[in-house]
Parts: sequence; C-alpha cells; structure tokens
Amino acid sequence: MAYKIPLFQLNFDEAEENAVIETLRSKWISMGPRSQALEERFAEMFGSKHAVSIANCTAALHLALLAVDVKAGDEVLCPSLSFAATVNCIKYVGATPCFCDVESLDRPTISIEQIKANFSERTRAIIVMHYAGHPCDMDAIMAFANEKGIPVIEDACHAPLSELNGKKLGTIGAIGCYSFFSNKNISTGEGGMLITDDQSIYEKVKLLRSHGMTTMSFERSKGHATAYDIVELGYNYRMDDIRAAIGLAQLEKLPEDLQKRKHVRAWYLENLKNESRIVVPFAENANFSSNYVFTVNLVDSDFTKRDQLRDFMHENGIQTSVHYPAIHRFSIYQDIPAELPITEYVCDNTLTLPMFGSLTQEEVAYISETLKKGIQHVFG
Ligand SMILES: Cc1ncc(COP(=O)(O)O)c(C=O)c1O
Repeated sequence: MAYKIPLFQLNFDEAEENAVIETLRSKWISMGPRSQALEERFAEMFGSKHAVSIANCTAALHLALLAVDVKAGDEVLCPSLSFAATVNCIKYVGATPCFCDVESLDRPTISIEQIKANFSERTRAIIVMHYAGHPCDMDAIMAFANEKGIPVIEDACHAPLSELNGKKLGTIGAIGCYSFFSNKNISTGEGGMLITDDQSIYEKVKLLRSHGMTTMSFERSKGHATAYDIVELGYNYRMDDIRAAIGLAQLEKLPEDLQKRKHVRAWYLENLKNESRIVVPFAENANFSSNYVFTVNLVDSDFTKRDQLRDFMHENGIQTSVHYPAIHRFSIYQDIPAELPITEYVCDNTLTLPMFGSLTQEEVAYISETLKKGIQHVFG
C-alpha cells in the first residue's frame, strides 16, 4: 500500500541529477576529486580539522575503534537504544560491548550514571549516539572520559549540524561518525563521513580506509605516484565520486532543510502539547537540532498497545517506525548481561512519526489528529 504520508521523503531535484551526470561525464567515478571536495566542504561546515569520506557509517565506526586502538579483550561502553551498527563495530575488533541504559523517556540517550556504573579496568572507549539529533550529556561524559583517559566516539548519524551549546555534535569527542544512508539528513544511497581534529587518528583512518595502501589510484592516474606499499591491514571502505557528488549537492541543501524540519517539529510540539499519554523526547531542547526523526514515547503503556496504535496510523495512511528495537535483545547479544529497564520500556512504547522538510503544516495537523484519535481508540 502507498502511504498518504510516508515516514521520510528524499530531498532530491536537478541538483543531484546534474551532479551525477557531471561525474559520469568526467570519466572519474571512483574515489577522486569529488570525494576530496566533499571532505573539505564537510570539514568546513562542521568545524572539524579533518574529514574522511567512507563507504558507510558502519565502516566509519569500525575504523574509529581501530584508530583509537580498541582490541580483543577490551570493553566499550555503549547504548542499546540505537541501530545495531553502533554496537556491531565493537564486535568487529573483538572487543565486548558493555550496554548502558538511557537516562529517561524524556532523554533517551546514554546515561552518565550508567557509564560510571559500568566502567571497569577493561573499558577502553565510550560510544555515544545522539538520538534523533539531540545531544547526549556530553559535558558530564567528556569530563568522566577525560578523567579516565579514554576516547569518546560520537555516533552522530542522526545529528548532522546539531549542536550543544554552540558546538557541533560529532566534534566534541575524539571522533564523529555520520551516515549518508537514504533516509538520513544527507542522502547518497550509501555513504558516510568520519571527522576528527586529531592528526594521527586522521592519518590512520585514511590508511585503513583503502587497504593500508600508501597511494591511491587517483594519484597514480595523475602521475603523482607510480607505486604503492601496504603498511597496515586495511579495508576497502572507500566512497566513490558518484555518491560524493550527490553528497556535495545534499550538503549545500542541508541548512535550509534543517530550518524546514525545525518548523515541522514546532508544529508537532504545538499540536501534541496537551496529549498526556505521550512524552516527546527532548521537547525542551533549545540547541539547534537536525531533527532526524520525530518520536513520541507512550506513558503507562505496553508494546501491544503501541503496536495497535501503529496499526491505527497505518490504516489511516501514515507510515510510522520504531527507533529502535533494543540491540541487547537481539540473538547475537543475548549472552551479554544487561539490565536496561528504561531502554526496554522505550523500545516497547516508542513510535516514530513522519519527519522531512517538505511536510506541510496541514499534513502535520493530520498526523497529530490521527495520533490523538489512535490514542483514544487504543487507551479509551
Ligand atoms: C545510529 C546509527 N548508527 C549507525 C548507522 C549505520 O550507518 P550506515 O547505514 O551508513 O552504515 C545508522 C544507520 O542506519 C544509524 O542510524
């Protein structure tokens, strides 16, 4: 069935089409000048010293852990309320995820108390995820991480250009990782970016992104180098110039798109302000936000009621989603002890409503009214 209102809509027009055509006509489609231009523009817009374009954010997170030297036997503190990639990367390097609960229904981001409680002598890094584009408690997290001398990796997939007290999310810890998957704020199909101010992390990530090779094909094609050595065991985690060209077009549109999303969020907040059955996470967040998704958490509810509400929305032509099923409940993580009551409650009682820049005020009113009717229908 085609939804009356989908969860997300791509912000594509002639700009992306022309960018692809120009790249095809340039006859250089793999990593080259456009990937480099995307990195330079990204670093400039995000206020980071270095940016490395990568095949996707999963690969960026993997390289991030390698770059800060997390190894087999180590532990990494992480949230469970995220997409699986936030945690799978810990297993890639042979380390053990140590799940931390989120703060509350209002702030479903990793809790500093949980970070402190789960810290051990094997802890080597913290991965945080800025849920829906809103900031984790970075002041407290950075203070603790600095005291313990461990790096913080920011999974900033939801948060391009989001801020905390004027500082961009993804630039506060040692490394920030972003995704350009189709439904993200910047969409290139597949794609990602890693940013850092640390020169040695930058150099290591660049090397590992492309097989640990000392030169790239583009440099060799230009006659700048004729040979290469392999100095580390790397990967093929490169982005290509077709996607980079789309990324450049998307990046230029991002600030305007985020302004539109800000209005969409404000309409939702106004429409839903008297609905006592829901908590809107970060409703009071005054920092600039990417508003990647708009979620609501049901109170005094359970997953059957949430699913009935989703069915009601579906029958009324509105696509919804769940961000996220808890990672620690997946089969491959069930051997790791985890007591995460708030995460589990959020997973069972959260609902993601449509969010994209071209949503109209009328559409947001329709979604909000349907949600209220659905709540009446399910809860009586
Ligand atoms: C929070 C989070 N982390 C990591 C990822 C992985 O990104 P990618 O699909 O680019 O590998 C995603 C993407 O869905 C995500 O939402």
